[in-house]
Amino acid sequence: PKMQPLAGIKLMLTAGPTREPLDPVRFLSNHSSGKMGFALAAAAAALGAEVTLVSGPVALATPAGVTRIDVESARQMHQAVMRHIGSQHIFVACAAVADYAPRTVAEQKIKKTDSDTLVIELTKNPDIVAEVAALPGKPFTVGFAAETRDVEKYARDKLSRKGLDMIAANDVSLAGQGFNSDDNALTVFWPAGRAELPLAGKTELARHLMTLIAEKYNETH
Ligand code: C5P
Repeated sequence: PKMQPLAGIKLMLTAGPTREPLDPVRFLSNHSSGKMGFALAAAAAALGAEVTLVSGPVALATPAGVTRIDVESARQMHQAVMRHIGSQHIFVACAAVADYAPRTVAEQKIKKTDSDTLVIELTKNPDIVAEVAALPGKPFTVGFAAETRDVEKYARDKLSRKGLDMIAANDVSLAGQGFNSDDNALTVFWPAGRAELPLAGKTELARHLMTLIAEKYNETH
């Protein structure tokens, strides 16, 4: 096999969590560490790709040779992706994007009141990967699915519903892998097939997944 199967290829990834502001000092977020996305960015660069990494707030160093764009909210991530997606050959959505954001951001810090309850209204964020996959002349688009059961059923449903070319699913009900862990295992689905990538460190797993992405991309382009 070629040593640099992604030479001349522009590849964009999203990684990490998003932060959805409530007021000047508070936000809604999740436990995504960004490790898988950053490992994938490094693996893609090692395979010769020109990599742009759109990252939510994470405590990770930028991999060598990777162009990084830092964002906070899902809306900012959406804008950064859409601004640069036109020139990309491959898009990999690894970010744990918040599904909803507070409908309004209070200009001043929200004060505690005498009431024991506080209601926060949320509105749906744009689905970045689905929007990319629906673009005319869309890049080869890869998504992720974190499932707790019926992994193949839900992953294949997401693959077709979002119009993806490939989806990498992990069973987050299993201990010692996935969110915030250093290890992960993935089952990868595409319309005509599937592959099992067994439990490994995220660096090694990222190399396997990126090699598979390069193989499937080069088969169809
Ligand atoms: O529907 P669900 O959130 O489970 O889909 C996960 C996949 O969709 C991941 O690839 C994630 O990066 C992407 N996604 C996105 N924008 C959203 C929500 C999810 O790109 N608003």
